[in-house]
Amino acid sequence: MTAMHTELPANIARNLAVNGERLWASLMETARFGGTPNGGIRRLALSDEDRQVRDWLSEQARSSGYDIGVDDLGNMYIQRRGTDASRLPVAMGSHLDTQPTGGKFDGVLGVLAGLEVLRSLDDAGIATEAPICLVNWTNEEGARFAPGVMGSQVFTGDFESGFALSRTDADGISVADALDAIGYRGTERCGERRFGAMLELHIEQGPVLEAEHETIGVVEAAKGQIWFNGIVTGQESHAGTTPMPLRKDALSAFADFALAVERIATTEAPAGVGTIGVALVGPGSRNTIPGSVHFSLEFRHSDKTRLDIMHAHARDAAKLISQTRGCDIVLEPIWSKDPVQFSPEIADVIRTSAADLGLPNRSMISGAGHDACAVASKAPTAMIFIPCKDGISHNEAESATPEDCTAGANVLLRSVLALAGTAT
Ligand code: HGY
Ligand code: MN
Ligand code: MN
Repeated sequence: MTAMHTELPANIARNLAVNGERLWASLMETARFGGTPNGGIRRLALSDEDRQVRDWLSEQARSSGYDIGVDDLGNMYIQRRGTDASRLPVAMGSHLDTQPTGGKFDGVLGVLAGLEVLRSLDDAGIATEAPICLVNWTNEEGARFAPGVMGSQVFTGDFESGFALSRTDADGISVADALDAIGYRGTERCGERRFGAMLELHIEQGPVLEAEHETIGVVEAAKGQIWFNGIVTGQESHAGTTPMPLRKDALSAFADFALAVERIATTEAPAGVGTIGVALVGPGSRNTIPGSVHFSLEFRHSDKTRLDIMHAHARDAAKLISQTRGCDIVLEPIWSKDPVQFSPEIADVIRTSAADLGLPNRSMISGAGHDACAVASKAPTAMIFIPCKDGISHNEAESATPEDCTAGANVLLRSVLALAGTAT
């Protein structure tokens, strides 16, 4: 698939800009939906806080006269019409759900900058040939319902909708029930739509752009990932009477495994990383030797072969620790995504937009996963990064500047317009 892009007419290119103050105001206004005392956001997918921000976005779209569609996974499509209805829409977007201790910019910048792009085109009275579609993808984070990048992967056919709708959270609530509870289980079949191109603006969530004093990251690829659910099974017994050599302490075995994961990832650094983010010790009594640990594990690497080697080394480590500690360690792969190459053409459009704006920019690989990583299999796709303070994300202290958010939105505006074409 090739993406058509056109030079912007000089009179448009000269004056084209987003309203950075309006964008920043929308970021701060929506941060109250799930806002935390520490200045972060807890807006888990399909929670009531997610419903609030979705309702806010719907209201903004309705008052601007955009067409709104919601599919059966809750993905929201906000479309500004073009003059040539035969052309596929140019899509842009990201996600509004956050991590449990999320920040104000991860995902939400991409959605609200997309809304700002639509509004700026209205303000400038610019008609585009192709329609432009802003997308809010359901459950990108995977924090409440695993795996993540859910709505966009049902859209691309990587996941069956039945599989996604049946996934449950820690309280046993399914995606389907949660969608119904917030009123966002739409009638449109997820995956029906087609896009001519897709762009996602996102904070880098890493330290490179800030350290190199670059404003724009032209993201050409993203690391692959493998996610696992793990269970260590030992033997519960009395903390006071069980001699140390006779114990089958699941927590001690887990600790060995966690350090093995760190060694595996460090060996593959900097491209390889490994993380255990969740560990639940059972039965959770201070005077009973732990009999179980349920945990999460994820590996990432830009090279698929190395990613598979990390998986093999983790399996070997689990086997060795099981033998030496007498505890069973089971690793269940629950999701994987190969490394993604984005569209070189779309990346060039982004690079040209940044250069036209005189913004320092560099090519990058994303360590984080994104909805764009899924959509890239269905439409020419690339991403735009801006710096975030100290590279911190998935943290309430996540921060970006109004200037960088505006710069990213201006690159998004110009790129979308170059791809959609301006109607004369
Ligand atoms: O985990 C990720 O890479 C994304 O930020 N959800
Ligand atoms: Mn994100
Ligand atoms: Mn995230």
